[in-house]
Amino acid sequence: MSPMAKTKGGTRRFQAADSMRKYCRGVQQQGQTLGFVPTMGCLHEGHLTLIRKARQQNDAVAVSVFVNPLQFGPEEDFEGYPRDLPRDMDLCRDEGVSAVYIPEVPDLYPEGFVTRVSVGPMGEVLCGVSRPGHFDGVATVVLKLLGIVRPDRLYLGQKDAQQTVVVGRMLEDFNVDTKPFVVPTVREKDGLAMSSRNAYLAPDERGQAVALYEALRKAQRAILVGGETEAKAIERLMREEIESRPLARLDYARAVGAQTLEPIDPLRGRILLAVAARFGRARLIDNVQVTVPGRMATARHRADRVP
Ligand code: PAJ
Repeated sequence: MSPMAKTKGGTRRFQAADSMRKYCRGVQQQGQTLGFVPTMGCLHEGHLTLIRKARQQNDAVAVSVFVNPLQFGPEEDFEGYPRDLPRDMDLCRDEGVSAVYIPEVPDLYPEGFVTRVSVGPMGEVLCGVSRPGHFDGVATVVLKLLGIVRPDRLYLGQKDAQQTVVVGRMLEDFNVDTKPFVVPTVREKDGLAMSSRNAYLAPDERGQAVALYEALRKAQRAILVGGETEAKAIERLMREEIESRPLARLDYARAVGAQTLEPIDPLRGRILLAVAARFGRARLIDNVQVTVPGRMATARHRADRVP
């Protein structure tokens, strides 16, 4: 770890792409590795865990704070999304972040900006059903940020499982020379996944929002202990658990392939259990990955049938 990356209070703040780019190139020209954590700000323990992981694995860490209009639908909470830049800067300083990139919307999307990343079918399932275009917006901004920062390593949270799959695919498809790392979901004591949108929850909604995690845990147990492999049964179990809370409005409860995000029935291999629901004006998501027991037996069986 270099002394520069350790300096508390030495956190630089940039708004212009050129100055951020110059700073990042300078870090790397000194032979230091650079980790990058893109965020939309209003930082919480989940974000800080990504930053700490990046600090462990790199000489210097860059964080971006940008509420990206391209990934919000017309009826979504772009305007009202929680923002607190002074606090975000303080937290980044405390965590020993080297540079914080805080562009304004016209800095990243000036007049004349037209190109978009299209992520294809993986952006049309799960969250993509109720948020059309969302993942194209995510991929577009992440590709832009990577073009500026050009980090050695990129840190993403498992909390946004579909985002990690879509971004990972994009890195491969566009030959981006950055290695992605996925950090486990950080949760509140009762299991609710930390999210900037939890700030929207009224106390009674907050009490019931833990249903998302409880549904995932129940489904996980049904697979690992109960031996359930029927996707529909697992999805029903999660749906019923969430819908048993009067304040929940379910968006989806799905069991899909962890890498493909496609339906698998019967469940086998590495599975993503993913749920989304609204509580008041907060739309919350959560997920867990499960490896369905008996995978080896199934793989052997399939291999036997290869001519
Ligand atoms: P944001 O929601 O601010 O999240 C930034 C990063 O923190 C994402 O990789 C997200 O998965 C991770 N994260 C959020 N909550 C977490 C938790 N409880 N545990 C672990 N990691 C968590 O995701 C975005 O911003 C945007 O889509 C972005 C990638 C910045 C593109 O605009």
